[in-house]
Amino acid sequence: MSQALQNWKEEINQCDSLKALEDVRVRLLGKSGEITQMLKTLGALDAELRREKGLEINQLKEAVYLSLEEKRAHLTTHALEDKLTAEAVDVTLSIRPESIGTLHPITRTIEEITSYFAKAGFSVAEGSDIEDEEHNFNALNIPEHHPARQSIDTFYLNAEKMLLRTHTSSVQIRTMKTTPPPIRILSLGRVYRSESDATHTPMFHQVEGLVIDKDIHMGHLKSTITDFLRHYFGIADLPMRFRPSFFPFTEPSAEVDIGCSREGGALKIGSGKDWLEILGCGMVHPKVLTNCGINPDIYQGFAFGMGLDRLSMLKYGLPDLRPFFESDARWLKHYGFSPYLSAGL
Ligand code: DAH
Repeated sequence: MSQALQNWKEEINQCDSLKALEDVRVRLLGKSGEITQMLKTLGALDAELRREKGLEINQLKEAVYLSLEEKRAHLTTHALEDKLTAEAVDVTLSIRPESIGTLHPITRTIEEITSYFAKAGFSVAEGSDIEDEEHNFNALNIPEHHPARQSIDTFYLNAEKMLLRTHTSSVQIRTMKTTPPPIRILSLGRVYRSESDATHTPMFHQVEGLVIDKDIHMGHLKSTITDFLRHYFGIADLPMRFRPSFFPFTEPSAEVDIGCSREGGALKIGSGKDWLEILGCGMVHPKVLTNCGINPDIYQGFAFGMGLDRLSMLKYGLPDLRPFFESDARWLKHYGFSPYLSAGL
């Protein structure tokens, strides 16, 4: 190896940055670099010598080039390693929960309920806030002029009778029309009615459950509701009663009350002599099944519906519904939940 090549290799080796290496490359192989200049002298030589010297210089050039590339690869890996070390994140450091805010009580309640029912095999079905009369009323066995329609202050959107859904029961219809049984769904979301006071807002939330299969009876409905409410309120012997009631889309229908005490003006769930109505439920009316193309002689089912906001208020002791929707950061900070705590029941 020529002395020159050895010196250059050493110089390349001593480069400690990509920038220094690039400087050496330009000095040797650039347009007016040392080796480039050597090649330019070849033209003046006679043919024999030119071939001989040409070969020699080109070998030199090749060797320098390889050595530059090798060093470049080495420096690049190191540069990456250095960068990774400098930017390393210590994942064992403790978290700072305050930096990402809190979960709204409704979000928390939705998570609790969906995770409970997911374990029982229910999936979440989506509907839309804007509905038509067919899905919100007719198919649910609430035809025009039915008293149940008059008792609800519906927000109508236009002459085509589009409306803001008054309950999540519309999702039952959408699901049954598109999904062959067996069905086991939960539908949670916003519903709208023109009413407003401490416990009513024009927009609120409901959760709806629907099970359709062969040989489904009231016993299934009763145990599903009982187990859920006892889990939700964390009271193993929560007193409960199923009261006969009426809904056009279920037959028979029931309302469920849970035991509570109102002594001294304070509401306490689970003990005492009083009752608190918490949800509506029943066996899906054969007419509703037929409306959705399901044969009631083969399939039966049960459904239930309840107010999410009310469930949230009762469990977490929130007296007024209106602040739920006022987006007051102080209220949220006080009543919100840490996003890091599991909502699993
Ligand atoms: N849709 C009813 C309401 O808004 C609640 C309800 C009652 C839903 C009984 C049901 C049910 O699925 O079976 O008041």
